[in-house]
Amino acid sequence: MQIFLFNGGGDANQAKDLERRIRDKLPDLQIVSRLEEISKALPKNAERSGELACILFPVVLNSPESFDRMVSIATEYRDSLFFIFISDDIPARDYKRLVQTGGADWASTRGAPDEILDILSRLGKESGPDTVEAAPSTEPVMVAFVPGAGGVGNSTLAIEVGIQIKTAKRSRNRRVCLIDLDFQNSHVCDYLDIEARMQIQEIARNPERLDKQLFDLFVSHHSSGLDVLAAPRSKGGPADIDPAALEALFQMIAARYDLILLDLPVAWFNWTRQLLSAVEVTVVSGLNTIPGLRQVAETLAAVRAVERVPPKIVVVLNRCEHRLVGGFARRNHVTNLLASEEVIYVRDCPDIATHAVNTGIPMTVEGTGKASKDISPVALIVSEAKPVVAAGTGPQRGPE
Ligand SMILES: Nc1ncnc2c1ncn2[C@@H]1O[C@H](COP(=O)(O)OP(=O)(O)OP(=O)(O)O)[C@@H](O)[C@H]1O
Ligand SMILES: [Mg+2]
Repeated sequence: MQIFLFNGGGDANQAKDLERRIRDKLPDLQIVSRLEEISKALPKNAERSGELACILFPVVLNSPESFDRMVSIATEYRDSLFFIFISDDIPARDYKRLVQTGGADWASTRGAPDEILDILSRLGKESGPDTVEAAPSTEPVMVAFVPGAGGVGNSTLAIEVGIQIKTAKRSRNRRVCLIDLDFQNSHVCDYLDIEARMQIQEIARNPERLDKQLFDLFVSHHSSGLDVLAAPRSKGGPADIDPAALEALFQMIAARYDLILLDLPVAWFNWTRQLLSAVEVTVVSGLNTIPGLRQVAETLAAVRAVERVPPKIVVVLNRCEHRLVGGFARRNHVTNLLASEEVIYVRDCPDIATHAVNTGIPMTVEGTGKASKDISPVALIVSEAKPVVAAGTGPQRGPE
């Protein structure tokens, strides 16, 4: 497929930066400044053979007219050209109208080139002989990260595990999605320096409207290949969600990913137990202090009281004091309070952890820090987990 980047003026520096980022991944990119140039560059029989060319089209959506123009261009050329419009943002309603033309999709300026590559790979599959959307060959594996208390590093663990799996040679091809289930105080996207895009209220209002196009719009893509579903932070928004809306969301997720990482909030809702009944691995996170270990023990008891107990439960004690001689401090407290639990210790690395959140570059990507190494056994457990429940025989994916 030939790919063109439309350069129609605008801010020259921004245009150059966008071109550079896209060309990094698509070295054969051709630049055009008028649509007529594209028809000259295409092979004579392109239209008849049904071969699509793709135009990456940066736009500024500052008026309804500019959007109407996108729709009319996409409709006019849809037999031979596929447009990927690029802008900072797009309202969900407009996005739907755009994809309904059948000749266009949308990528965010910030998400280029990863979002563009995703669309191109979908387009490749759709224009090939098999037009059915690729579905995972097996049931996805679900893994829950359950905090014993607030601020213990639960999101950090979920993120680092997701990134380690997406960057390890043997697992990088797995489709991994991290869902931030804290709808009010979500911070996963901040830590990854990407935009939170899941309009959870929109799903809650109309679960039946959640289709492929809307779902795609809600996914944030990280450059590691990790996808994230997280709602923009809002104190005004509800912390809880109707189970029907969550079910609609999980149906979409389960059809698209091989591995689903759930970052749960401290508070449990009426859907939490049901969700935990459907996971293969539960990671309970906490701190190695007496109150911290008690909170972990209580959380473990609550996890073991769900209808179907997760087959694998592991405790991760984060921010642990590590001594040059003798390893982790206060292991006797852990033995006393958590007896026979499988416990993984992650050391306290305040400088590196702060640098990671301030730069938006996870510790694993930066390649620094012992904490990331300590987390690798968790990533191994997660990546080796197999779906225990065969399709259609066990509890439903997600709450009912
Ligand atoms: N191993 C570590 N060493 C030092 N600091 C850490 C470590 N892990 C996480 N942190 C830091 O601890 C803080 C809290 O981490 P994080 O946000 O992941 O916790 P959380 O349990 O998700 O919190 P919340 O309850 O707000 O959701 C962050 O600033 C993070 O960078
Ligand atoms: Mg968190």
